[in-house]
Amino acid sequence: MNKTIAVIRGDGIGPEIVKEAVKVLDAVAARHGHTFTYDEVDMGGVAIDKWGDPLPQAMLDKCLASDSVLLGAVGGPKWEGLPGPQRPEKGLLRLRAGMGLYSNLRPAKLWPQLADASPLKPSIVEKGIDFMVVRELISGIYFGEHKTVEQDGEKVATDVMFYAEHEIERIGRIAFETARKRRRKVTCIDKANVLDTSRLWRAVMHRLQPEYPDVAYSEMFVDNAAMQIVKDPSQFDVIVTGNMFGDILSDEASMITGSIGMIPSSSLGDGTRGMYEPIHGSAPDIAGQDKANPIGTILSAAMMLRYSFDMAAETDEIEAAVNKALNDGLRTADMMAEGCTLVGCAAMGDAIVARL
Ligand code: IPM
Ligand code: MG
Repeated sequence: MNKTIAVIRGDGIGPEIVKEAVKVLDAVAARHGHTFTYDEVDMGGVAIDKWGDPLPQAMLDKCLASDSVLLGAVGGPKWEGLPGPQRPEKGLLRLRAGMGLYSNLRPAKLWPQLADASPLKPSIVEKGIDFMVVRELISGIYFGEHKTVEQDGEKVATDVMFYAEHEIERIGRIAFETARKRRRKVTCIDKANVLDTSRLWRAVMHRLQPEYPDVAYSEMFVDNAAMQIVKDPSQFDVIVTGNMFGDILSDEASMITGSIGMIPSSSLGDGTRGMYEPIHGSAPDIAGQDKANPIGTILSAAMMLRYSFDMAAETDEIEAAVNKALNDGLRTADMMAEGCTLVGCAAMGDAIVARL
């Protein structure tokens, strides 16, 4: 197969981790007779510096013309002082919206080799951690009106949280369908005791639920959910939630699995073209030092092969190679443990390629 992949290296550790993922993709392509062509896309801080815009239209067009997008990370202290619409993160939000990627899947799965790196007690970890956060990605408070105005001699700021029924329905269906391929359990997480948007979520979910009688459905307030995720994560299979709660809970979920550096994500809309990125940020403190963990990005590339290119065998190979590298005791600094071998970003990429 021939596929064009738009590659966004981004800021901070972005270029280092994407380089390793591309290494792995190339090795897999060579083994299976595929041709991956990479189209370089500037987004985030690097695009602000070069083009004065975190996502120039021509860059969005490249992504829309690709078969899928691979992203490292964007943002950094250099651009922190900029107003909201000009920040690197805005490029990412515009890309997600511009590509119609409403469905963000973030797996929280414990790699048994990393059990010691989890901050949770062994008695909790032993029960197993394997759930999927299904996060709505292009609506909610992230995309409502943001404004700051002067009022009675002080500034007041507003961020509007908005959800339309069709936006909830399409992500709700993804959650039920995802659960059907897993342990058939969906938990809707919201703040329905306070927010209208959450009450609308519940109403729409109740409408969908009879279509999925084989899936157990429950609801939980987000504050309680934040607590339950550390108290007993084994109770969750699929979590479905809005944009902001999903952002917060997926960081919490990643931490309990040992390292945020390990977690990939897929963002999809109605077609097969998606965007794949690790859920961690650009880690400017370790950028350019060959210390970053490339596995979140490598597993994101693997997700791209599975969900956008329908290459199941190739995906399995990458995941198995990661597993072998961990079994062999190789660790980047973020997940280093006693008796293991500390390796840098590039060496981890090479080690995974060598185990394909
Ligand atoms: C994430 C990130 C982004 C988000 C930021 C960089 C805008 O935290 O993908 O989780 O909040 O969606
Ligand atoms: Mg986040």
